Amino acid sequence: MKIKDILNDINNEQKLALEQVLNLSGPELIVNKDRELTKKEYKEYQNINKKLEKGQSIQYILKKANFYGNEFYVNRNVLIPRPETEELVRITNELIKKHLKQELNILDIGTGSGIIAITLKKLNNTYNVTATDISRKAIRVAQKNSKKHNAEINFIKTDLYNGINDKYDVIISNPPYLDVNSINIEEKVRKNEPHIALFAKNEGLYYYDRILQNIGKILKNKYIIAFEIGENQGLKIKNIANKYLPKAKVFIKQDYNNHDRYVFILGGIKDEKLKNI
Ligand SMILES: C[S@@+](CC[C@H](N)C(=O)[O-])C[C@H]1O[C@@H](n2cnc3c(N)ncnc32)[C@H](O)[C@@H]1O
Repeated sequence: MKIKDILNDINNEQKLALEQVLNLSGPELIVNKDRELTKKEYKEYQNINKKLEKGQSIQYILKKANFYGNEFYVNRNVLIPRPETEELVRITNELIKKHLKQELNILDIGTGSGIIAITLKKLNNTYNVTATDISRKAIRVAQKNSKKHNAEINFIKTDLYNGINDKYDVIISNPPYLDVNSINIEEKVRKNEPHIALFAKNEGLYYYDRILQNIGKILKNKYIIAFEIGENQGLKIKNIANKYLPKAKVFIKQDYNNHDRYVFILGGIKDEKLKNI
């Protein structure tokens, strides 16, 4: 069997599998399209294919996922990084550059594989980054990734920010936000990904409310809170933020599909600087 015979009729996930088995990039597959697969390679490819047919996610099979142009280790204890979260990190870093000083304390709540914390640290090594997760198994994955990327992060296994007494300039979180009662969750997501990373009570708003309730005690005077949110949650989260942080300015932003996807809460920053975040 030649590469071109397989390439003829495969989807994106199968192509990733082929790239992995042959240790070739997408363009390299094309250049080498007349190369014959060894028996061992073909068997390996077929094994992955069988797992894909059973509905497993390619990232969990290959134990890796891309985020912000970097490769991260993943396993079934963590959420597979989503492209929407790249935009959360990008906008947050832009806001930091625009509104805050450079050396600052950042807290990532519900770090999972560590992608947010590690990417921010890679974007600016002067950031002091702390990251929490309630799942010890997730923290292990995040630690593995921080070593892989040589990014020094202070990981803490805790419920949200329980037991943390430091003050932060930036708090960022992509908490579980799918409504536990929702029936519209993609089968593949529900079957593969850890439910502790996906679902939340109170129409998916439970963690935003809990995070914001006492957040004042870990915030510096001037701060940015950055959330990824579900597409119907923007106004409700804005109301929660207004309740707990009445002086802050709250902005809802959209993802590339034009769905509400992010909430930014800025405090202690002069109003005229906030006309357009
Ligand atoms: C939607 S995932 C996000 C993971 C990662 N930050 C990302 O963006 O891909 C939510 C994460 O929150 C963690 N989590 C759930 N409940 C938590 C809690 N009470 N305290 C801290 N972390 C929690 C889950 O274990 C999971 O890793």
